Amino acid sequence: MERGHRGKKKIWLFICAGAAVLLGGALCLHGRPRERQPEYIFSYAENQTADYPTTLGGERFAELVEERTQGRIRILVRPESVMGSESEVIRQMQYGGIDFARLSIAQLVEYVPEMSVLQMPYLYRDSTHMWQVLDGEIGDRFLSYPARCDLIGLSWYDAGARNFYLSAAPVRKLEDMRGLRIRVQESDMMSDLIRALGAVPIQIPYDQVYAALERGQVDGAENNWSSYVAMQHYEVARYYTIDEHIRIPEIQVCARHTWEQLSDDDKRILRECAVESARYERELWTKYEEQAKKTALENQVQEIFLTEEEKKKFQEAALPVYEKYCSGYEEIIERIRETTK
Ligand code: GCU
Repeated sequence: MERGHRGKKKIWLFICAGAAVLLGGALCLHGRPRERQPEYIFSYAENQTADYPTTLGGERFAELVEERTQGRIRILVRPESVMGSESEVIRQMQYGGIDFARLSIAQLVEYVPEMSVLQMPYLYRDSTHMWQVLDGEIGDRFLSYPARCDLIGLSWYDAGARNFYLSAAPVRKLEDMRGLRIRVQESDMMSDLIRALGAVPIQIPYDQVYAALERGQVDGAENNWSSYVAMQHYEVARYYTIDEHIRIPEIQVCARHTWEQLSDDDKRILRECAVESARYERELWTKYEEQAKKTALENQVQEIFLTEEEKKKFQEAALPVYEKYCSGYEEIIERIRETTK
């Protein structure tokens, strides 16, 4: 009798537990919205640190895309060159290994030489001038050029002006450049510019520049305030000479093989989000650059200004680069120079 009673009790317990599980499951399905599984998960390569304006711009791009595709497209931003140097990233994008990236166009011109026009030395009067060009018809036209190497241009990002920095002694005049070993990007145009200024270019990927400066493989490098500080180059090269020799626009790109999988609607969303993220990056850039400069100057960096006369000498010395890279593009160079709004 006792045993039979316990047996019934057990059966009831099983029935109740089963019902609770079913009810719980039903509540989960109906009470909470089901998380949508992404249809696409894409990679996005970035060579800057996680808190850098271009990386945060990339993150904003990913958030906007995920939101506007209701979670169908997820983009994972990988900073700090974990997906390779910029030149490696371009090659991987061409072969289908990486979907998106933010790149310095100095690297892209190796594949699409016509793009050099946008990064000629001493071309832009200042940042406003560069943005008048990039936000206008010329910028729109050049955004389509990377397609020639299977990358789809989406938007322009800011990267300020680049200056020279040295470890042992400052550059105050053009003559001081003579024979200096200067690190440059993996770009022939940048190498030619350094040669034209009398120095010796050494091509080194971005993530290896600190080590090269520290062990004396190069005497100096050139970059904007933001990169100079984010990569801690100021610790090993304290003389920063303001000559603003070049403004290199940066670009967000999508690999063609990725682009072609998407519907027209998704392509439109991606473009819109890229442009919005670029606006955000530009806002961040200004603040970040200011802070970077402050950090450098508080940490024994010496800022050196060229006289107007010396600046002219630098500009004249750079002219052969125009002859080599812009022949046939004189008219567009003229139009860039004349752009005022
Ligand atoms: C800038 C740019 C990078 C580039 C680097 C370089 O920091 O944002 O994309 O790689 O210059 O000098 O290599």
